[in-house]
Amino acid sequence: MVRHRRKQIYLLGFMGSGKSTVGELLARELRWPFIDLDTVIEAGQGVSIREIFERSGEPFFRQLEHAALSEVLKTEPAVIALGGGTFAHEANIELIHDSGGTTIWLDCSLETLRQRCVAMQNRPLFRDPESLQRLLELRLPYYRLAEFRISTEGRDAREVTEQILHLNAF
Ligand code: S3P
Repeated sequence: MVRHRRKQIYLLGFMGSGKSTVGELLARELRWPFIDLDTVIEAGQGVSIREIFERSGEPFFRQLEHAALSEVLKTEPAVIALGGGTFAHEANIELIHDSGGTTIWLDCSLETLRQRCVAMQNRPLFRDPESLQRLLELRLPYYRLAEFRISTEGRDAREVTEQILHLNAF
């Protein structure tokens, strides 16, 4: 049976892989709304992701993330930038799969992710380079479940966006 393909693109990948930057550009090109899942969670709580982690811990953040995802996937068309851990939880993967949208993994090297994460102040899960590598290794099997994998290594958001637009998948 051919599933109805919905006009939704989910960008997934590790912190620093370029999901938000590419997502914004892609949405502009497609003239679709852009939704950043982290921003939705922050707006709903009225505090930053870092504060949510500090005050209530990661399990509570994951509950909020799942609830926010359930809401945003009702929007169509939409380009949706997930958080780095969203597509590493079975219940979220199931929701996304059932939504019928297109999943795209923005991939780049550990070294590049490290450099980008060091420059970010607001990523509670970034502690040190070693823990970053462990976290990435745990998540790779999930990221590989995406329908498409696009490298963002050494490429700017425009180039990546062009490649996505040429996938002819939505
Ligand atoms: C997280 C990544 C962050 C944010 C939260 C947890 C993760 O999103 O959802 O800090 O588990 O990797 P970005 O990937 O947009 O940084």
